[in-house]
Amino acid sequence: MSSSNLLKGKVTLVTGCNRGIGKAILERFAQEGAIVYASAREEGCLDECAKEFSNNYNTLVIPVYFDVTDGNGFKKAFAKIKTEQNRLDVLVNNAGIMQDSLIGMVSEKLMTDVFAVNVFSVINMIQYASKFMVKQKSGSIINVSSIIGTNGHSGQIVYSASKGAVISLTKSAAKELAKNNIRVNAIAPGIIKTDILNGLSPEVLAERVSKIGLGRIGTPRDVADVVVFLASDLSAYITGQTIGVDGAALM
Ligand SMILES: NC(=O)c1ccc[n+]([C@@H]2O[C@H](COP(=O)([O-])OP(=O)(O)OC[C@H]3O[C@@H](n4cnc5c(N)ncnc54)[C@H](OP(=O)(O)O)[C@@H]3O)[C@@H](O)[C@H]2O)c1
Repeated sequence: MSSSNLLKGKVTLVTGCNRGIGKAILERFAQEGAIVYASAREEGCLDECAKEFSNNYNTLVIPVYFDVTDGNGFKKAFAKIKTEQNRLDVLVNNAGIMQDSLIGMVSEKLMTDVFAVNVFSVINMIQYASKFMVKQKSGSIINVSSIIGTNGHSGQIVYSASKGAVISLTKSAAKELAKNNIRVNAIAPGIIKTDILNGLSPEVLAERVSKIGLGRIGTPRDVADVVVFLASDLSAYITGQTIGVDGAALM
């Protein structure tokens, strides 16, 4: 991979970095010269990868371990960033869960669990990140929504509501924070090859892929490249938007 140093020296925090889309964002950010605070839940799971990416891309990747639903956990991570960098240029709210359920089977627990990770944690993280960014009068926040949030999907009433909320909270945050030169955008990936698809049967997956205009499933890298663009100054005049990364999928 070649680098254009699009994020040289920017201090960034990315959630859900241990696999899937988050790991691809972590690698692309490191490659573009960002200092990355890479978050994951399982203590130690990013230690090796952080060393490897720091060495390969001549930057700093620093693991921070917390569950995004745990207030004490993420507050400690923000405190560490304050002590070590005293600034934060980019926040990526990537961590998310997909739990499917037909309307008749939706439980209180399912709603609470999905909204805790996909929505409430995103608002909390924006609240803490914006403290740095308001002081700096600059920043870029990127929230990972989904094509299911823009279009809806049978069997996904709760997940689609959570990802729809990500889009509307992105617009509100963009409006509130614009006066401080803080941009807030969302991306809406289509079908991307990660563990999140493990629950889909091969038949359902094949049927969904057959509806993708570009004729292939997306890669985490496809998504990470758009996140790099939104994190960088190349997108300096873009805020409050939701960018589809779906290869023209018809859901
Ligand atoms: N793949 C797709 O087709 C697709 C399409 C549209 C949108 N998205 C969205 O893209 C984002 C990344 O998904 P992915 O496909 O990369 O999924 P994935 O491979 O299942 O990864 C999900 C990531 O979120 C983390 N996570 C989940 N709950 C967490 C919690 N409570 N605290 C901290 N981290 C937590 C996971 O950590 P653990 O390993 O500890 O569980 C993991 O790092 C999600 O927001 C998802 O909704 C994905």
